[in-house]
Amino acid sequence: MPFMPYDRPVRAAFIGLGRIYDLNVRGYLDNPDVEVVALVDPDEERRAQRQADWPGAKAFASAAELAASGIEVDAVEALLPVQLHPEGVLELLSYGWHVNLQKPMCSDLADAYRMIEAARASGLVLRVMENYLFYQPLRKLKAITESGEIGPAVGYHMKMVGSAHGGWDVPLSSWLWQWEQMKRNRGIMVFDDGWHKLATALWLFGPVREVRAWIGATEVGPGVVLDAPSMIAWEHENGVRGGWDINVALDMYLRSDYYTNDERWEITGSKGFARLNRCTGRGIQQPSVEVYADGEMRSYHALDDDWGSSFRDCGRHWLTWLRTGEGPLLWDAEAAADVLRFALAAYESSAAGGIGVNPGQVTCDAG
Ligand SMILES: NC(=O)c1ccc[n+]([C@@H]2O[C@H](COP(=O)([O-])OP(=O)(O)OC[C@H]3O[C@@H](n4cnc5c(N)ncnc54)[C@H](O)[C@@H]3O)[C@@H](O)[C@H]2O)c1
Repeated sequence: MPFMPYDRPVRAAFIGLGRIYDLNVRGYLDNPDVEVVALVDPDEERRAQRQADWPGAKAFASAAELAASGIEVDAVEALLPVQLHPEGVLELLSYGWHVNLQKPMCSDLADAYRMIEAARASGLVLRVMENYLFYQPLRKLKAITESGEIGPAVGYHMKMVGSAHGGWDVPLSSWLWQWEQMKRNRGIMVFDDGWHKLATALWLFGPVREVRAWIGATEVGPGVVLDAPSMIAWEHENGVRGGWDINVALDMYLRSDYYTNDERWEITGSKGFARLNRCTGRGIQQPSVEVYADGEMRSYHALDDDWGSSFRDCGRHWLTWLRTGEGPLLWDAEAAADVLRFALAAYESSAAGGIGVNPGQVTCDAG
């Protein structure tokens, strides 16, 4: 069934009104492409808090109550704990709603393909949003690489350091389901936040044919084990190799408006390099993108390097897509399943002592 773009504002609902709502909402505010008609969360306090943003929307304790209310909904923003993604998405699709789902899509391939199949069978769109692909400095990094300015890419690396000081408040309730994920070998560094880094790798250089990983463990509290120090390396089908090191620096203060995550990307070309100095946090206080080529250093001072803006632009892209049907979804559900395969290949490699694993060959029960 071909998708028919809407010739009027999209009627949307938020399903889950927790921490990340504060950023996802940016794509919806002051956006003539959308009318927010409903808010859903079992938590009464959250419903009351978010209702202030959308006085005209109706609030419900469950998606089932919204579906039974008679309110017409075209698409939903699914901001649920990851464990609820598979069943939650199946339920939301069953009501006839397009779904914009937060990452990680889910923890296992079998669930990913159940979700993809349900969307296909119902003729609805399932998008797994990837806000990093809308972070302006990362888009500049990609454009510089593709422009030939630093010559053909010969390799690249990413860096990620999690700290426990600084940033915005994250309620305990938002951590509790993350801790459950950690116990299932889906840690917050490699799998949850790491999902974004793996997505950027696929976006920058295309499909990956081999992954080698060494995933560590650091106990930071009773029963709370972070999946670091870790190192993951891979080779794309185009021959470019990437590497990523992941650490926790528990005592490091990191200035951040959001999570305390210090991130960098650096692409080496045959005649120079392009570097992204920060993303979620405000680690290195230099221009967010710097390029070295032909003996000269060039800095980009005027990029929108507020990580929160990537949510605004990612959300707007979705709503524009629903109005026009044009361009890539970034990501469609199949592309998101490839990110999952990449992560599962890393787990499989690490468990087997760092051997090379082809993400295309991981099985449904991998990891
Ligand atoms: N893109 C990013 O950088 C980023 C950052 C943080 C979180 N996330 C993702 O966003 C999602 C939500 O994370 P969060 O940090 O906001 O979690 P959270 O725990 O703060 O919020 C989840 C909300 O869902 C509600 N909820 C639970 N069951 C529900 C149900 N059946 N129906 C409706 N609502 C229900 C909870 O009451 C809570 O308010 C997760 O998938 C997470 O991985 C993405």
